[in-house]
Amino acid sequence: MAKVLLLNGPNLNLLGEREPDIYGLTRLQDIETSVRELLEGAGHACGSFQSNSEGLMIDWLQENRAADFLLINAGALTHTSIALRDALAALQLPFLEIHISNVYKRESFRHHSFLAALAIGSLVGLGIQGYDLAARFAIDFLKQRNAH
Ligand code: DQA
Repeated sequence: MAKVLLLNGPNLNLLGEREPDIYGLTRLQDIETSVRELLEGAGHACGSFQSNSEGLMIDWLQENRAADFLLINAGALTHTSIALRDALAALQLPFLEIHISNVYKRESFRHHSFLAALAIGSLVGLGIQGYDLAARFAIDFLKQRNAH
């Protein structure tokens, strides 16, 4: 059994009511439940956290450093946070970056990610389905890792 982390950053607590034309109507709690069910169904544990605070996100990552994989939607911190990038570099936790919206179709300040170069890959613009797809990838990744 492995442990997979799901971390959401600023304003993602408002999913379902925040700019629904961009982010849809599904609430974060439902996304977390869906990801958890997928992971638990594959025999893994899932820890999830959301914060509007960069520091609390970094603290949570450090506290959970023993995990095996991370799914992260850092929200706007993606485009601004060298501190979060450094935290991910320090932990050496394999991770996927998720964005509900296609950030490349939006304002140019959303086109750069401080996290992307450290990630295995990014799921961008797939709506909330990106979370489930990322969880499925994590399950496959962990299966392959355990086979070696
Ligand atoms: C987001 C994209 C970011 O640019 C934005 O700041 C968010 C959400 C997304 O999931 O599409 O808060 O990460």
